[in-house]
Amino acid sequence: MHNTQRKTNNLPPPFKTKVIERISLPSKEKRKQIIKDAGYNPFLIPARDVFIDLLSDSGTSALSKEQLSLSLLSDESFAYQNGYYTFIDAIEKIIGKEFITYPLHQGRGIEALLFKGFLKRGDIVVSNAVFETTAYHIEQTGAKIVNLPVDESKDEGSDFPFKANLNLGKLQDTLKKKMDNVAFIILMLTDNNKGGQPISLKNLEEISQISKKFKIPLIIDGARFAENAYLIKEREFPKLSIKSIAKRIFSAADIFYISAKKDVLSPAGAILGIRKGIDNKKLEEKILAQEGFITHGGLSDADLMIISQGFLESLDEKYLRYRISQVRRLYNMLNSENIPVIHPCGGNGVYIISSDILPDRNFPGYEIGSAVYIEGGVRGSVFGGKFTGGKEYFRLAIPRRAYFNEHIDYAGKIIIKTIKKGKFPHLQLKESPSALGNFLARFKMESQ
Ligand code: F0G
Repeated sequence: MHNTQRKTNNLPPPFKTKVIERISLPSKEKRKQIIKDAGYNPFLIPARDVFIDLLSDSGTSALSKEQLSLSLLSDESFAYQNGYYTFIDAIEKIIGKEFITYPLHQGRGIEALLFKGFLKRGDIVVSNAVFETTAYHIEQTGAKIVNLPVDESKDEGSDFPFKANLNLGKLQDTLKKKMDNVAFIILMLTDNNKGGQPISLKNLEEISQISKKFKIPLIIDGARFAENAYLIKEREFPKLSIKSIAKRIFSAADIFYISAKKDVLSPAGAILGIRKGIDNKKLEEKILAQEGFITHGGLSDADLMIISQGFLESLDEKYLRYRISQVRRLYNMLNSENIPVIHPCGGNGVYIISSDILPDRNFPGYEIGSAVYIEGGVRGSVFGGKFTGGKEYFRLAIPRRAYFNEHIDYAGKIIIKTIKKGKFPHLQLKESPSALGNFLARFKMESQ
């Protein structure tokens, strides 16, 4: 048992349901055909054929009645529409007035905006870890990513509470040696590649100091900033409020961006913040040319209303406690049956170390993912492995406010049953794009 494991509590959700979405389980015969037609890649299964969908915690949250009703008060004018002011008010309530903020259509759109044109071949970007799309946009410019996580993050079995921390010694050395080439430091909060692990406030604020000393900008990818803030409160600063932790997180940055589809509880959108005083002219020109007017960035005003309210709701401590308890529920189920998972339990999901279950296979995550879908219509996603390097993980990401604990228990039982049975399809790669293969690759059975 891992020592940071907390007892599964049966917290009732601090909300009740008003609108429901029916889900159904196709027959096992159909599921076998469906996964085959999807090229044994869970990303390619039609959502209507999934019973419990743990593919992603992105854009999959349930809306609150406040979000829904505010969306009806939207003003679909072209520029400086009402929702923009609601958006700015919500951001200022949480983050203050240190940044100029822009609504944009999606996190990866911001990555394309920030990196293309501002990075050049030979540049170095220092990071704790980056998400697939972030790596794609950085590497497309010819720049290189140097990941400098703490050593504990390399050991999936370690219960170190802040595995998204940067190794500060290595950071200083790298900045000293490669000064002219380092374009910026980027930090992913939480670490979505390896367990939804948080960064500590102490580490983050020290990185901020170092970045100032070396005059290297610090960018925060805060897609899961609220979960990170909750885990800081729980593991590092129990006396601080979640809101004050969140404010300090953003205060550490020169630039931040947040995909609104995760912690911000919205089906679409993203937020970009540029510290006041940084020249934003070129950026505004690019937003206008590529995304939309600077007060909507390609989003409808209804989207902006939903994002504004979701941002305020994201830091509600009761909600966060329940949300994380649901993730831990699945973690505890799998852990107590000795399924290899990344420790400790992070913020957004449970990551099964597929490579440890099937060490001789090339695509163990897809083989396990296919078998789990066939067993009970549960879907998760596959990260790492042959497409991006390192071990392959089967991620069960929990959508926010969407599923009951009964759904989580069902998913856990199906996963355990499948892995205990040990019957997985043997897959070989059929086709894959040159990058981002995890999402689009297709496989076939080895004998086909
Ligand atoms: N940064 C992080 C840490 C992410 O997890 C994602 C997306 C992005 C950036 C891109 O943002 O989706 O708004 O374009 N992650 C999703 C996932 C897709 O399933 O983890 P986006």
